[in-house]
This record gives sequence, structure tokens and C-alpha cells, in this order.
Amino acid sequence: MQREIVKVIKGVETSDGAGVSLTRYIGSPQLDMLDPFLLLDFFSSSDPDDYIAGFPEHPHRGFETVTYMLAGRMRHRDHMGNEGVIGPGDVQWMTAGRGVLHSETPEQQDGLLQGFQLWVNLPAHQKMTAPAWRDYKAEDIPLEKTEHSEIRVIAGTTDSGKTGPVAGIATGPLFLDVRLNGQISQRIPEGHNAFVYVIEGHVNDVPAGHLGVFGPGDQAVLRGVDAHFLLIAAQRLDEPVSRAGPFVMNTREELLQAFDDYRAGRIAGGA
Ligand code: FE2
Repeated sequence: MQREIVKVIKGVETSDGAGVSLTRYIGSPQLDMLDPFLLLDFFSSSDPDDYIAGFPEHPHRGFETVTYMLAGRMRHRDHMGNEGVIGPGDVQWMTAGRGVLHSETPEQQDGLLQGFQLWVNLPAHQKMTAPAWRDYKAEDIPLEKTEHSEIRVIAGTTDSGKTGPVAGIATGPLFLDVRLNGQISQRIPEGHNAFVYVIEGHVNDVPAGHLGVFGPGDQAVLRGVDAHFLLIAAQRLDEPVSRAGPFVMNTREELLQAFDDYRAGRIAGGA
């Protein structure tokens, strides 16, 4: 069955961190969550005042944060001693698990900074797993080219059989960066939720700067006109969600425990 776009979302302008301007699509009043996706932010500005303050040290627990850069560079540091800079086309996939303390800071004084942050939930049995962090460089992300399309395969497998480097993720994500002038189809398992985020052009009547949510089915057909977009999908968890700020757990007790652990310095490194 073919999936149709059932909802188009414009996003809300907001700011986060120490004052980074961004547009929030998932985790907003328009779309609280799209199980297992908890948040999708798009940041895009050439004005350093919109981004220079960055995201000083803050915690996460219970889910995964994915940062995908289109332009500019961000530096990441965490309590485990990981440090790295991601630039255009690079992806950072961080599993916060039981707890990470990290900072995310623009590695530039001016120029365009553009990219995404996506939060992907963890199933209950993995919420307190050991944290893990990995950067994938643009050159390690396979590119599938046809006459009408160019697909960067970050996670999952395309219908032509190209597989992305991000593997071993609980929710079996598909994460494609697509340039399209024509039509492609992509299998997306029934149990997954799926969306497109349109960066440029139009995809299935979803205009640039909008997110289109797919309804049920096992296949998406994408028609693009000078389009650049992300196609993202992952397995629904259908578990209770109790969230506040940087913590996403299953119950209120677990959420309060996360705040307690953070105040007591136990979010990172401790038991
Ligand atoms: Fe963060």
C-alpha cells in the first residue's frame, strides 16, 4: 500500500541553547511527537547572532540525538572525552542512554550555519544503556546516483540496495538526503513512522521549509521538482513517554530520577 502525505507542518520559530535561532517541526505545538521521533529542529542563518552562543554543557538521558550538517561546522565535546567537529554532509549519531553531558558550539565566527537536530527515542529496555557517540564523515556516506536523483544514504537501505553506515540502532531508522527531479519509490516498513523535510523545491506538494508526515503503508512514492529533501523513517515504539527538557523516559518516576541524578552529578559517568 502506498503511503500518502497526511499532514503538512510549517514549524515554529524558537530558540534553544544559549540563544540559537531555529525552526522546530517535531516537538512543537503542531506535532508533539511522531513516535519514535521526539524533536526535529532546523537551523539556518548567516547571522552569527543567531547561532554564535551555541549549546553550552547540558545533559541528555533516554534517547538519541542526531545532528546533520548542511553548511558550517559545529564542535562537540562530552564528559566521556569525545570531541569532534562536524561539517557539511557529516552526521553525528549520539546515543545518550543513561546519560551524557555535552556541549555543541559553532566552529565559526561568521558565514552560513545550516543543519538539523533530530531526537530519536530509545525503547524502554535501552533507555539506561551505556552512552555511545559516533561521527560519520561526508565521504563515508554512500551516494546513489541515477538520471533524476542523487541519494545520500545515511541510515537504512534504498530500494536499489545501497545501505548507510549508521547501523545497530534500535528503531531501524531510514535516513536519506535526496536531490530529485522526477520520481523515486522507497520501501518503508508498515510499523515505521515516516516524514519528508523539504529543504528546496517541492516534494509531493510539500513546499520548501515544510515537513510532510506520511500515513500508513509500506511504500512511499516521491515526486520532486528541483527538490532537495530528507526522507526519514523509524519503527514506532508504542510505549509511554514522560519527557521534560533534556530527559525522555517512560514514567514520571524515571523522569524525576533523571533530574535527581543530574543535580547529584550522577547523570554522567556514575552508576
Ligand atoms: Fe545536546
